Amino acid sequence: MFTTQTYQRRREALKKEVKNGVILLLGNIENPINFEHNTYPFRQDSTLLYYLGIQEPKLAVILDIDEDKTILFGDELSMDEIIWMGRQETLKEKSIKVGIEETRPHAQLATYLQKVEASKRVVHYLPPYQSANKILLSNLLKIPIAQLLPSVTLIKAIVQQRSIKEEEEIVHIEEAIRVSNEMHLLAMRMAKPGIKEHEIANAIQHLAADQECTMAYPPIVTINGGILHNHYRLHTLQSGDLFLNDSGAENVMGYAGDITRTFPVDKTFTPKQRDIYNVVLHAFTTAREALKPGIRFKDIHLHACLALTEGLIDLGLMKGNPKEAVNAHAHTLFFQCGLGHMMGLDVHDMEDLGEQYVGYTDAEPKDTKTFGLKSLRLGKELQEGYVLTVEPGFYIIPELIDMWRSQGKNSTFINYDKVNEYRDFGGVRIEDNFLITANGYRLLGPELIKTVEEIENYRANY
Ligand code: GLY
Ligand code: MN
Ligand code: MN
Repeated sequence: MFTTQTYQRRREALKKEVKNGVILLLGNIENPINFEHNTYPFRQDSTLLYYLGIQEPKLAVILDIDEDKTILFGDELSMDEIIWMGRQETLKEKSIKVGIEETRPHAQLATYLQKVEASKRVVHYLPPYQSANKILLSNLLKIPIAQLLPSVTLIKAIVQQRSIKEEEEIVHIEEAIRVSNEMHLLAMRMAKPGIKEHEIANAIQHLAADQECTMAYPPIVTINGGILHNHYRLHTLQSGDLFLNDSGAENVMGYAGDITRTFPVDKTFTPKQRDIYNVVLHAFTTAREALKPGIRFKDIHLHACLALTEGLIDLGLMKGNPKEAVNAHAHTLFFQCGLGHMMGLDVHDMEDLGEQYVGYTDAEPKDTKTFGLKSLRLGKELQEGYVLTVEPGFYIIPELIDMWRSQGKNSTFINYDKVNEYRDFGGVRIEDNFLITANGYRLLGPELIKTVEEIENYRANY
């Protein structure tokens, strides 16, 4: 946990920004898998973690700005629960540690909100994503779920605050990345013909669990790297395959790492694999070197797309003028998604609050129509203190190739005959995590091997 002062300071800053009314923050509940008492692992809501730090289900916090009160609503364990779960720190004890003196039973939340409603004061709340919280909010505020109206003022204030990472948060993010990197090195040592994807996935999760970490997201551990979020893990690795590992740890404080490495199942890259890998690596370093405050991430994305396109023209997969090709979005046949996203307490940080607020501004909203750009989660100008991923890729999706070809789409920029030689290539992604600093960027976590030579040298030993 952070210090009492940290949580108090964060809450005070939020109240100051929102200015008036009542802020209602809901924690997560435990979700049943197949019956009520058999639940999925509990994960606290990240905003609640940020302002409260308490990892316990069914909490709600009221920050009453007008009356200058902070109240934690939640229930102490009943004797029945103590019998089954043992004595634990009480909610009261936990709440004092994070600087909240007043706790009340969860059931009293409704009464409090009724009084707020009676006095015609505004209740600021966030978009709920758990079904239970949708229902709870709907009942508390007497508004049908479909008509709930989250507070844009509150969303914007939280996004502004959580986007600028504090030094003590960076420590935890780097801890998560350190463990993530160990997971990646283990995968590089294990991958060889005959082993199954899930054996590697299990081993890296075990490694993380040994260091008190969970997964920040379901790991993508696959020989089908062309499938962007591939969670199938029953393939056996074979000579000639490329292997893509996109996995990141979440540390005890809830902070994420999000790292991807791609390498051949054999000890060395084939010439074809090496060429594509180096094109993606060039796009990666081009993007990385452009990171600094004041530059729009959308421009860095397009810059990386240009680097990728130039490389693919050199290899004969694309043709024509690279700038014109990028303007026509022809590169999206191979790079269908965005260059990166914010990262912090969530792997896609604050995605529950809305991409239009986290990654974009009112003045420059997200392009939700254009293929490629519609999947770019972060477009806005970077600021010192942002933590983000850079993750260019090259993905072969045969169905997409066939569709474009049949439509003659971008045939001035795509060499379809050559592309057909890559139909079973799979995909390459390279992903690291960065902090935006006053003058540029800092790689977060220890440097993890990345070049063809580094990877081949490392794998030669195993
Ligand atoms: N691991 C998911 C992503 O890279 O966005
Ligand atoms: Mn990733
Ligand atoms: Mn990512």
